[in-house]
Amino acid sequence: MIHHTGRVEVICGSMFCGKTEELIRRVRRATIARQEVQVFKPTIDNRYGTDHVSSHSGQNIEAVCVESSQAILALLHPKTTVIAVDEAQFFDIGLLNIVEMMAERGLRVIVAGLDLDFRAEPFGPMPQLMCLAEEVTKLHAICVVCGEAACRTQRLVNGQPAHYDDPIILVGAHEAYEARCRTHHLVP
Ligand code: TMP
Ligand code: MG
Repeated sequence: MIHHTGRVEVICGSMFCGKTEELIRRVRRATIARQEVQVFKPTIDNRYGTDHVSSHSGQNIEAVCVESSQAILALLHPKTTVIAVDEAQFFDIGLLNIVEMMAERGLRVIVAGLDLDFRAEPFGPMPQLMCLAEEVTKLHAICVVCGEAACRTQRLVNGQPAHYDDPIILVGAHEAYEARCRTHHLVP
């Protein structure tokens, strides 16, 4: 079965909102529909090879780590009909062309990533990906302070809010980040 019409789907939101869980759900359903799926994620610690995309809730599926967006094209199998990319915020801006190219070829492209960094500013190629996508799903986590819907990610360094000038990339989970709403998100 081949998708004759390509499309781009973006799944975005703060940390802990279920982006990877939703990506995994879509990939599993595509597999049930006998689609040929390839999953990619960026290498951010210099390893290269097969790994997994893992959700905070503990689900995972196999994925290939790539150093750059260009490597996705190089590794594309001719039979692949669905492409999934997790942690898209870490990719170079070249991802835009590659996603467009794959959709033009008739592939379904599912991209998940953080729309905003810890400063609440647009993250990497995500804003443009959201614009060119046929479908954008913005998920929300729960603010750990007030329990309202959380659209932002609070970075904490030794329990204190990270500063605006801190480096944008810091790989981590619960030890360094919390989901928070606009009111409770702090960037000194
Ligand atoms: P997640 O969206 O799957 O939870 O993973 C987000 C990753 O991005 C996690 O390793 C932490 C990292 N990150 C940054 O590097 N900079 C940031 O500003 C934020 C919010 C997250
Ligand atoms: Mg994730």
